[in-house]
Amino acid sequence: MANLELTTEEPACADNGVWLTCIECSETFAPFDDIRYTCDDCDGLLEVRYADLPMWDDFNGRGVWRYSAALPVDSGVSLPEGDTPLHNVPRLEEDIGVSRLRIKHEGMNPTGSFKDRGMTLGVEVAKRVGVDRLACASTGNTSAALAAYGGRGGMETLVLLPQGKVAAGKIAQASLHGARILEVDGNFDTCLDIVQDLAQRGEAYLLNSLNPFRLEGQKTIGLEILEQFRDEEGEYPDRIVLPVGNAGNTAALYKCFRELVESGAIESEEVPKLTGIQAAGAAPMVEAIENDWEDTERWEEVETRATAIRIGNPVNAPKALPGIRETGGTAAMVTDEQITEAQRDLASEGVGVEPASAASVAGLRKLREEGVVDSDETVVCLTTGHLLKDPEAAAEAGVAPEPVSGTTEGVLDHLEAN
Ligand code: F0G
Repeated sequence: MANLELTTEEPACADNGVWLTCIECSETFAPFDDIRYTCDDCDGLLEVRYADLPMWDDFNGRGVWRYSAALPVDSGVSLPEGDTPLHNVPRLEEDIGVSRLRIKHEGMNPTGSFKDRGMTLGVEVAKRVGVDRLACASTGNTSAALAAYGGRGGMETLVLLPQGKVAAGKIAQASLHGARILEVDGNFDTCLDIVQDLAQRGEAYLLNSLNPFRLEGQKTIGLEILEQFRDEEGEYPDRIVLPVGNAGNTAALYKCFRELVESGAIESEEVPKLTGIQAAGAAPMVEAIENDWEDTERWEEVETRATAIRIGNPVNAPKALPGIRETGGTAAMVTDEQITEAQRDLASEGVGVEPASAASVAGLRKLREEGVVDSDETVVCLTTGHLLKDPEAAAEAGVAPEPVSGTTEGVLDHLEAN
C-alpha cells in the first residue's frame, strides 16, 4: 500500500532540501540529476519531498509563484498563471442547498485550464534537466498548455491525442502554439501508454501528471483555495468537490493538505473533504472507492460528452484514493445529462465552463440530494476548464440563434410573434 507519510529528514541525495521519494517502496532519488518518472526499483509513483515545509507567512506575490516556498524551484516559464477567481454563485448555492458555495474557476488560467499551473513548473524542470523535446498524451487541455509553455520556453512539443475525441478549442490551441499533433487511433489511455514508452526510450520528456513536478504546480490550487476562502469567509471550506480524470488534481490537493498539516499551517481537522466526481461512462475511481479497492481497475471502454475526463486508467489513483479516504471525502458519478444541466446552471450565474468542469457541480447536487453532503456545509467546487474550450458542447447546451430579417420592424415583429 502507498506510504504517503511525509518526513523532513533529508536523504543524502537531496538537492537544496528537495528530493524524490517512491510512494510504494520509499526509495529516494536526487530530484534533477537524471530523468525518471517512476521508481527505478519498483516502478511506483514518485513524490517531491522537502526538508522545509512553509507556513502561510512564507508566501508572497500572486499566482502560482506566490507559493515558491512550497515548490522545488523558485521560478518558472510563466505566462503568468494562477490567481484565479473564487466566484460567488448565490442562486446555485440556495438551489443546491448548502451553507456556502464558491466556484474556483481554473478556466481563467492563460490557456483556459488548470494545466498551466503544472506546466509552468514542469517545463522549467525540463529546461533544468536539459531536454529539448516535450511530450504528452492528452484529452486536450494538457496539450494546449504544453504547446503554449513549451513554445514560450523555446522547446519542441509533441502531443498524442485520441482521434475524434478532443474538443475543437483545445486542438486549435495546440496547433497554433506550434505543437506537433499526432491523432492516435485509440483512447487517452492508449495515448498515455505510447507516450510513456517514448519517454522511457529517451525520445521525449514526459509532461503528463505522472511527472511528479507537474503535480507540485497543481498543488497551488489548494493553497489558493484555502487562502482565498479563509480571507473571505473566515474559515477553511468543509469540502472541495472536483472532476476526476487521471486523478492528478486529487493527488495534488491531498499533497497540499498533508504538507500544510505537517508544517503546522493548518490542523488535521481543518482539511477539506476531497470529493471526486467522474462521468458515469468513465468512472474507475468511483468503482474503486465504492468497492474499497486499493487501486483502480482499468476500464477499456469509456464514453462521455465530458471528453476531458474520458479516461479509464487513472494513473494517479495510488496517490488520490488515500486522499479521498483520509480526508473523509467520497467519489460519485454523474450522467452526461446531469453534467449539461450543471453547465447551464453555472452559465446562468455568468460562469462559463466546459462539460468536465461542470461535473463537480453536478456531483455536489447529487450528493446533496442523497444526503451525503449536509446543508450546513461550506463547499468549493473546482471548475477546471473554460467554456470556449468546447464550443460545440456549449452551443448544444445553450439556446439556438433565431434568424430574423435585416430591419428593425422585422426584429420587432419576430420578438412579438415568438
Ligand atoms: N477537467 C478538465 C477540464 C481536464 O482537462 C482534466 C484532465 C480533468 C478535469 C481531470 O483532471 O486528470 O487531474 O483528474 N485532462 C487531461 C488532459 C487528462 O489531457 O487535458 P485530473
